[in-house]
Amino acid sequence: MILWSLWCLAVAEAVCGRLLGIPTVPFNTSGSGSYSLSGVVNMVVDGKYAATTDTRGSTLIPPTLGDFAKTFVEDLKAITQQEQLSLVNSNDGSAAAEPSIRLTLGNAADYLDAAGRETSEGYTLDVSSSGINITGASRLGVWWGTRTVLQQVILNNGSIPYGTAKDSPGWPTRGMMLDVGRHYYPPDFIIEMCAYMSFFKQNTFHLHLSDNLYNNPRYSRQQSLSLYARFRLWTDAADVAGLNKYKNESFTREEFERIQTSCAARGVTILPEIEAPGHALPIVQWKPELGLSTDLSLLNISHPQTISTVKTIWKTFLPWFHSKVVHIGADEYTASVTDYNRFVNELASFITSESSKMTRIWGTFPPKPSYPNNISKNVTIQHWAFFEDNPYNDYIKNNYSVLNSDDTFYVVNKYSASYPQSLPYNKTFTGNPANNGLWYPHIFDTKNAGNNPPRDNPLVLGSIAPLWNDYGPNASVYSDAYYAWKFGIPAMSDKQWGADLGINEFMPLFDKLHPKIPGQNLERRVASKGEFILQYTFDQPGNSTAVKDLSGNGYDGNTTCARTASGSLAMDGKCALFIPLGSKGKTYTMTLTLTISNVSDPTNATLMFGRDSNLLLTPAITLLSGGTYYRTEQSLPLAAQGQVDGGMASKMEIPIGEKVQLLMYARYDRTQVQPMWDGGQGGQEPFYTVLGINGESTRTAYIDVEAPLERVGGPGSGWAGEVYGLDLLDHA
Ligand SMILES: *[C@@H]1O[C@H](CO)[C@@H](O)[C@H](O)[C@H]1NC(C)=O
Ligand SMILES: *[C@@H]1O[C@H](CO)[C@@H](O)[C@H](O)[C@H]1NC(C)=O
Ligand SMILES: *[C@@H]1O[C@H](CO)[C@@H](O)[C@H](O)[C@H]1NC(C)=O
Ligand SMILES: *[C@@H]1O[C@H](CO)[C@@H](O)[C@H](O)[C@H]1NC(C)=O
Ligand SMILES: *[C@@H]1O[C@H](CO)[C@@H](O)[C@H](O)[C@H]1NC(C)=O
Ligand SMILES: *[C@@H]1O[C@H](CO)[C@@H](O)[C@H](O)[C@H]1NC(C)=O
Ligand SMILES: *[C@@H]1O[C@H](CO)[C@@H](O)[C@H](O)[C@H]1NC(C)=O
Ligand SMILES: *[C@@H]1O[C@H](CO)[C@@H](O)[C@H](O)[C@H]1NC(C)=O
Ligand SMILES: *[C@@H]1O[C@H](CO)[C@@H](O)[C@H](O)[C@H]1NC(C)=O
Ligand SMILES: *[C@@H]1O[C@H](CO)[C@@H](O)[C@H](O)[C@H]1NC(C)=O
Ligand SMILES: *[C@@H]1O[C@H](CO)[C@@H](O)[C@H](O)[C@H]1NC(C)=O
Ligand SMILES: *[C@@H]1O[C@H](CO)[C@@H](O)[C@H](O)[C@H]1NC(C)=O
Repeated sequence: MILWSLWCLAVAEAVCGRLLGIPTVPFNTSGSGSYSLSGVVNMVVDGKYAATTDTRGSTLIPPTLGDFAKTFVEDLKAITQQEQLSLVNSNDGSAAAEPSIRLTLGNAADYLDAAGRETSEGYTLDVSSSGINITGASRLGVWWGTRTVLQQVILNNGSIPYGTAKDSPGWPTRGMMLDVGRHYYPPDFIIEMCAYMSFFKQNTFHLHLSDNLYNNPRYSRQQSLSLYARFRLWTDAADVAGLNKYKNESFTREEFERIQTSCAARGVTILPEIEAPGHALPIVQWKPELGLSTDLSLLNISHPQTISTVKTIWKTFLPWFHSKVVHIGADEYTASVTDYNRFVNELASFITSESSKMTRIWGTFPPKPSYPNNISKNVTIQHWAFFEDNPYNDYIKNNYSVLNSDDTFYVVNKYSASYPQSLPYNKTFTGNPANNGLWYPHIFDTKNAGNNPPRDNPLVLGSIAPLWNDYGPNASVYSDAYYAWKFGIPAMSDKQWGADLGINEFMPLFDKLHPKIPGQNLERRVASKGEFILQYTFDQPGNSTAVKDLSGNGYDGNTTCARTASGSLAMDGKCALFIPLGSKGKTYTMTLTLTISNVSDPTNATLMFGRDSNLLLTPAITLLSGGTYYRTEQSLPLAAQGQVDGGMASKMEIPIGEKVQLLMYARYDRTQVQPMWDGGQGGQEPFYTVLGINGESTRTAYIDVEAPLERVGGPGSGWAGEVYGLDLLDHA
């Protein structure tokens, strides 16, 4: 007994009874050894299940066990640098002679959720001197087991204590919701977010695919009809021609397919939402006759074409969707409840008859004795605010299934009068009103325990935490959505799974795991041996097209420009300097030394192009990211609104014919530029954005943008001159 507990203390990361991880894993050690993955050469997949799939999860495109195993091998290689690892199919399910990782399926009845029901997402991990066996209740269960192995490998320097874990999630729906309606996000961002979520065993990414900015009652009809409103799916189908006018900010079917497949490959189901009959300006801007005359962002359900139009939209896009549940929105409707309930029920039965899918809505009009009709109990409810409904009393006690999206965990990008700008993750450790302890998905109300059903209530589906873009596309860059959730996703995922990580255990674990999360580089990190990530100068003799990186990191570039006798590249508006990095996230310091001799594009001359941003030099120093131009205080958009003195930003215009240095610093909350042509006197100027607040006012906010590191100059750059050097430091 004493020896055993000494052993528990000795294993730094394994506390007796559980493995520390995010989520934590119930674990019993056996003996005092541990298995080191440094010797493992084979990953053995049980041939009985390698090429087939499950139908039990929430996706209709589930990977095979072999598919999951392949991704696991790639992840393990990336984390351990163990190139010799190979994937073997074993037809009789038996082990190879040498120690191996073996993946197989077991009995689903062995794994129970918080309500005591069988769950297909459970798994067992057996670790012994013969290797590691992962036995899943389903293929997805095996996948979650592989996440445990990866985390333990990272935390314990490649080894896992001998013993057994038997682990299963408490709730079937665990994840996040992103408002891609009021802000576009590129497919790769969404796919990388899925990789981040999956590492912590979240299984659902809900995408809110259509919405509009707040339709202020004082807007004229014309203003409402031109307000920012987007529908993000793009098709050439004639039935919905005109619904979406913004192809460059949309997902084509191929892109949406790639998003869904890539996320499913990591166990994450994309749950699509098309919003109506509220937040429906994208539909009303297409067919203005369908809007309520009193508020054009709401559909007039009694108009004979309304329900059939929304059905046409769903008929068009249902074949795109590979989830068993789809979301029809249905929140914040303020007109007739009878019409609303009819709308939801008609859509729900239409969707089921077209596709066999189930329907979800936001909690809006809970059932009441006075109503002539109620929402069908086949429709699941996503509760979001107690001023809309009481999820336990109104819905669960009436036998509706409810998903917990309580606004306790709401995030609004950049600014909100009501909600924080990053997920208040500590509430996941303290949000249980009964004991100020750990929060779980059955806790809708973090202040009043009486509003929460027992933990084992089977009508609680799980939890989804949303991020909203109330103030539109210019309020934030893509990566702001990630940074808002950086800590929130792991902290929430532990509780969504039903695990028991404590507040003081979280950060040390997160700090170790975070740098190694596979399948994503959301922070645009660039590995570097020292503080200089990249150093280019052009004073070597000859006209070589190769550009040596002097930092020692080997990020050599190349150029199509000639070298000058004065040690520079001759930029002619066509030739370019190519950099093999693409982008660098905060923090960084970038220094570009150059002379501009001629500008041919007075509004759009571009110094540098990158994966996430461009750096423009006209009309003044400007960053372009996600389709929005960001300038410093002295640039046009602010001055034009009479908010800032100074008019045009002469300081931010690079003087022609002078050799100058341009410095950019990205700190944690802002990117700044320091023009050195005035001797750096002016100091560092932050880039700003101007947010429109519901048509009532504006606010400024800092913006933080990745460094553009694909090329300097080249076609479309609109300027000529010389480039003397480019440096990138890994701090600011
Ligand atoms: C792992 O599975 C192999 C093959 O079925 C078996 O021989 C071995 O005993 C198992 N190891 C553990 C620790 O369960
Ligand atoms: C981690 O493991 C490697 C190889 O297995 C070993 O060389 C190294 O010393 C270990 N590091 C620590 C901190 O234990
Ligand atoms: C650990 O052992 C206890 C006591 O035998 C048992 O109740 C529990 O189910 C075991 N847990 C795991 C993960 O094997
Ligand atoms: C809704 O549509 C009906 C039928 O077209 C029409 O009579 C009614 O005036 C409309 N209501 C509003 C508020 O727009
Ligand atoms: C609607 O739900 C309420 C509350 O459960 C119930 O009292 C009422 O009878 C229902 N109405 C109809 C038409 O089913
Ligand atoms: C609920 O769904 C089931 C199965 O899909 C179906 O048989 C039933 O008619 C639906 N009920 C309602 C009220 O829509
Ligand atoms: C809820 O469902 C249970 C079991 O199906 C049933 O016994 C109960 O009467 C239902 N309650 C309500 C309010 O519909
Ligand atoms: C969360 O709680 C921990 C432990 O009390 C504390 O150190 C940390 O600063 C808190 N984080 C935030 C964002 O409040
Ligand atoms: C590089 O090429 C340019 C244009 O062909 C030429 O003018 C220049 O002298 C060359 N420089 C060197 C160092 O060879
Ligand atoms: C130049 O570098 C880019 C990456 O920055 C690379 O894609 C391209 O193939 C290189 N071109 C040549 C000719 O080496
Ligand atoms: C899409 O194109 C429009 C029109 O050129 C532009 O204003 C917008 O910024 C672009 N969107 C993105 C995300 O690049
Ligand atoms: C600005 O230049 C870039 C690069 O050539 C080009 O893609 C973009 O369309 C231009 N934008 C405008 C508004 O002219």
